[in-house]
Order: sequence, then structure tokens, then C-alpha cells
Amino acid sequence: MEKSGNSAEPVVYRGLEGILAAETKVGFVDGQEGRLSYRGYDINTLAEQSNYEEVSYLLIYGHMPNQKEYTEYVERLRSESDLPEEVYDLIRKQAGKTHPMTSLRTAVSYLATFDVKESASDPESQEVMAVKLVAKMPTLVGAIHRIFSGKDILKPDRELSYAANFFYMSLGRRPDPMESKMMDTALIIHADHGMNASTFSALVTISTMADMYSAITSAISTLKGPLHGGANERALMMIQAIGSPGNAEKALSEMVERKEKIMGFGHRVYKVYDPRAKILKQYAQYITEKNNKNLFLTANKIEELMINRFGSKGIFPNVDFYSGMVYSALGFKTEIFTPIFAVGRISGWVARSLEYIQDNKLFRPKAKYVGEKGPLKYKPINERD
Ligand code: CMC
Repeated sequence: MEKSGNSAEPVVYRGLEGILAAETKVGFVDGQEGRLSYRGYDINTLAEQSNYEEVSYLLIYGHMPNQKEYTEYVERLRSESDLPEEVYDLIRKQAGKTHPMTSLRTAVSYLATFDVKESASDPESQEVMAVKLVAKMPTLVGAIHRIFSGKDILKPDRELSYAANFFYMSLGRRPDPMESKMMDTALIIHADHGMNASTFSALVTISTMADMYSAITSAISTLKGPLHGGANERALMMIQAIGSPGNAEKALSEMVERKEKIMGFGHRVYKVYDPRAKILKQYAQYITEKNNKNLFLTANKIEELMINRFGSKGIFPNVDFYSGMVYSALGFKTEIFTPIFAVGRISGWVARSLEYIQDNKLFRPKAKYVGEKGPLKYKPINERD
């Protein structure tokens, strides 16, 4: 946070750190206690007892669905899960040319073309677009993963749950119960997380009375960066590059010496261990036990060294440190990790966007001008140095 020494001077809060920009009932992040809850339900409880469809409904509509509401919502998601052929074609055309996050951003933007209400901004139309986007996100990312892996696209299987269907469309086989549970939990714990950068981006866009497709295209663009969703793929690449627990100390010291940020550590809000990372760490240990124990042991050593060195500054593993290890062991390619984040986060993005427009106020902060005050004399181009 940057503050001016002179109390009469306006204060600039860099990165809007600590600024309350809206009220919300969707989710709560307690950065000091390391707790995350959605509409009052702790994520550990949701991860153990709920499923993604129910959590998505909870985030969007504000209460746990009863049986009828749940059945109708699941049916809506299933009936909206397929994509227009043109969108599949677009994904095919991008094969080998772009990062999957670029494909996803473009495909979501293109999806709007096939919705007659794509420019509507009334709450009812926004809700319809929101549910369509929740329904289509796993199909989009699944198709992108298939094309990125050189495989044929698989259409949604309506018999499967949201998470199992995403797994199937991405990897070409139905998950076993444990894989299905891990996928479901990963999506649940990524579903919402306060006023993070991509959610804020969605809100800025929706606050202009733009449509939901535009808001989600903004959010995906923002999630792409390595300081936000893009950290998961870089974290795994770093753990793989370090390669063994014995290499960790030297490698980390060199990175710290070069003032590099260690991916998968630190958080704007959490100053303690990220509760999502705790869940993913257990899965990472379980899933690497048979075939890749060394990878987990390397990560664990990095964690130990980082906490010894930076724990007193409030730097601990975040959600992105162990998620990639779980996705990789399930069979996903590294470049698809951030799109998987988007599959989970879609419900939080649309829930908060729908909440925000109920009492809409255009986002329009100010910047403190520190440039030349002028007025400068205009010189024709041939008179300039
Ligand atoms: N490795 C080394 N030092 C770090 C790290 C890190 N991962 N994170 C923060 N620091 C240090 C930073 O160098 C700075 O030190 P100093 O005060 O000496 O200059 C201090 O901690 C504060 O860092 P900051 O970047 O100014 O603080 P922030 O609140 O803007 O940081 C963050 C939040 C997530 C951008 C940062 O921790 C970071 O860059 N982490 C690595 C990327 C990452 O893992 N991102 C995923 C975040 S969680 C998922 C999500 O929300 O998308």
C-alpha cells in the first residue's frame, strides 16, 4: 500500500490492496484464520459432503437446493452442455497455435454469437447466459484439452456428473470413483474466492451493463496471468525442474537470490496456510504414492524450506502449489491447468456478477496524476530533437 507523506495529498492504494469495493454474500475468505466459506458453508464441509452442481447452485441462488431445485438445475446444465459446431470448429482451427487459455478466451467470446440475447443486460437474460456458461465451460475446456493432445473431441455424456463428464471429455475415459471425487473436489475448492483479480474483472465489465459473455471473457483474460491462475502450471514445472528433495535448497536459494517469485506461494489475502492447498496436498500425496513419490517429496521439501524462510512474512503454499501435481497425475496436460481453474471458478464469476447487478454501480476509480502539468508548447515534428 503506497501512502503519501503529506496528509493533504490523495492516497494511492496500489493494486487496490485493502480497499472494499463491493458488498457480497457469496463467499468469505478469512486470511488470518485460513478459512474459506461459500454462503456460510466451510469449503472442507462442501468438499467432503457436497458436489459441484450443488455448490454451483448455492453460489448462484444463495441457498442449498431442495431435491426439485437440484434435479431441475442438473437437467438445465446437462441440456445446455453441448456447443455449437462452429465453436468446436474454432477450437480445432486453433490447434497447435495458441495456449489453451487463449483458445478458451476466444471460444467463450465466440459463443456469444450463437445466443440471440448476447447483448441483453436485464437480470433474467443474464441469469440464462450465466447457467449456459456454467454448463458449457467443461465442454469447452474438455474439447480444448482433446485438441491440444492431438485427439478427437468428445461430446458431453449426459449420464455423468459435472466433474466426471469434464474428466471424460478431457481424458477420453470415465473416471473411477476416487478420480471422480478428486475432480469434483478440485472444482468445488476453486469455485469462488473473494474479490480476486478475475472476479473483479468480471464485475468491472458487468457494471457497464455489458452481457455475461463479455464479463466472463474479461475474467478468463485476467485469470491467465502467472500472478493469478497461471501460477499452477509454473509451480509444477518448477517442482519437476528441481527434480529431487536434495536439489531443493540450492535451487530455491538461487531463485530467491535472483529475486524471483516462487510460484504457488504467497497470497494477497491469506497470511497463513491456504485451506485449499491443505486439501490438494492430501490428494497430491495420495495420487503420487505409487508412481511419482519423488515429485511429492520434492514439493514437500520446497514447502518446508519456503515456510522456514518466509513463513514469518506470511508466505505459505497457495492453491496453485499442489493442484498441478494432482491434475498431472490424473492425466491432464500442464497447459490445461489454468483452464481447469476456470471450469471451477465459472460459478463464482457468474454468481458475483448476478449479485452485483442487483444493485449496480459503474466501477470507475481515479488515478493520481503525477505527470507533466503543462501546458507545454506544441512543436511541429520537424522542430523536435
Ligand atoms: N516468492 C517469493 N517472495 C514472495 C512471494 C513468492 N511467491 N510472494 C510474495 N513474496 C514477497 C515479495 O517479494 C514481497 O517482498 P518484499 O516486501 O521484500 O518486497 C512481499 O512478499 C509481498 O509480495 P507482493 O507480491 O507485493 O504481495 P501481493 O499481495 O501482491 O502478492 C501474489 C500476492 C500472489 C501476487 C504473490 O504472493 C505472488 O506473486 N506469488 C506467486 C504467484 C502465485 O503463486 N500466484 C497464485 C496466487 S493464489 C491463486 C490465485 O488467486 O490465482
